[in-house]
Amino acid sequence: MTSIASVQWDPYDSGLAADPYPTYRRLRDEAPLYYNEEHDFYALSRYADCERGLPDWETYRSGRGMVLEIIKAGIEIPPGTLIMEDPPVHTIHRRLLVRVFTPRRISMLEPRVREFCANALDPYRSRDRFDLMEALGGELPMRVIGMLLGIPEAEQAFVRDHVDSSMRIQDGGGIDVPDAAILSGEIYGDYIDWRRDNPSNDLMTDLLYTEFDDENGVRRTLTRDEVLGYVNILSGAGNETTGRLVGWIGSTLAAHPDQRQELVDDPALIPNAVEEVLRYEPPSMAVSRYVTRDVGWHGSTVPAGSALVFLVGSANRDDRRFPRADVFDIHREVGQHLTLGLGAHYCLGAALARLQGRIALEELLARFPRWDVDWENATLALTSTVRGWEKLPVVIP
Ligand code: HEM
Repeated sequence: MTSIASVQWDPYDSGLAADPYPTYRRLRDEAPLYYNEEHDFYALSRYADCERGLPDWETYRSGRGMVLEIIKAGIEIPPGTLIMEDPPVHTIHRRLLVRVFTPRRISMLEPRVREFCANALDPYRSRDRFDLMEALGGELPMRVIGMLLGIPEAEQAFVRDHVDSSMRIQDGGGIDVPDAAILSGEIYGDYIDWRRDNPSNDLMTDLLYTEFDDENGVRRTLTRDEVLGYVNILSGAGNETTGRLVGWIGSTLAAHPDQRQELVDDPALIPNAVEEVLRYEPPSMAVSRYVTRDVGWHGSTVPAGSALVFLVGSANRDDRRFPRADVFDIHREVGQHLTLGLGAHYCLGAALARLQGRIALEELLARFPRWDVDWENATLALTSTVRGWEKLPVVIP
């Protein structure tokens, strides 16, 4: 049944965002298909339902947006916005990005990512407290995307702030829609024009010069607008999410000092610990879709034309899928979780996100085997799509 149950979930309620998990549990148990009347959307919260629904792109479309506010606002999505496209065009565009966004290009970044983390953390070695988001989480992902694209350092902070602030939402139900410059990627325009005249060994140069067969069967390179769209999606999707992952690593391990000590003693456990943090505290709680046909869930019908939220943050805590799902356990066989999505839009930056999480944690533990969090002064960021620490003051004993 839909929300005859008394449980309420308002994605714009910052009080709930502080600890959404008890509400998610009630949704799974009492209203596995939830309808929110105020904002007029449906939500699925069980792992099995998200796992079944997400790959069905014919029923659950991204072409009108994958963020609830964008779908509800009915704004026109600029062509080439990969994450908000559907097959067959999405398949063609994704294939091109997969060709240039190679595992080799990503693993080649490892020494530079490590160097960046080391330089970012070293100045705090003699300090007894610092803000982990300021020191590392806020900067690392954009620097890494910059390394990937070849963006000059001076441009990077501006781009990051612009992207993040556009996704900030108002507490109490206000809905902000990203501005047109973000959706079109125009903030990168000057850099792209410069890089076209100054090609080098980076992903931007590949995007500008790689030939592909487009949806009309024409062999060509990407237009300027298409390149803008790609670059914008990469930085929009890979920046704040990965920064929040760094914060969740810091806070979750502070809350589980015994497990942290195991990682200090045996760093080979670190990759699985990062995977468990991804499952346990997903930076991105929800992906939304536009429903193309009447579809039945739990005895009710979701009408064609609805907005539907796949609550992946809830699915990851579903005991039906993960035994003792509310327990953080670095030894868990995590397997597939939904933090990085599923199906046609599965996160293209998954390997890059994992690499950053692993290296950030390795470098952190190498310098600070123990830390506490000053919880009183830690603040959570509330954005429409991302949940994580804005400030995470850590205290070094
Ligand atoms: C912890 C960090 C990250 C999280 C939690 C995350 C999460 C996600 C999720 C849930 C999706 C699927 C959205 C949907 O189905 O509508 C997605 C797609 C995507 N992500 Fe990530 N992401 C992360 C890091 C990155 C990074 C580092 C990059 C690249 C620099 C990146 C690039 C992308 C792109 C391009 C897509 C769209 C793929 C498509 O539409 O085919 N992500 N991400």
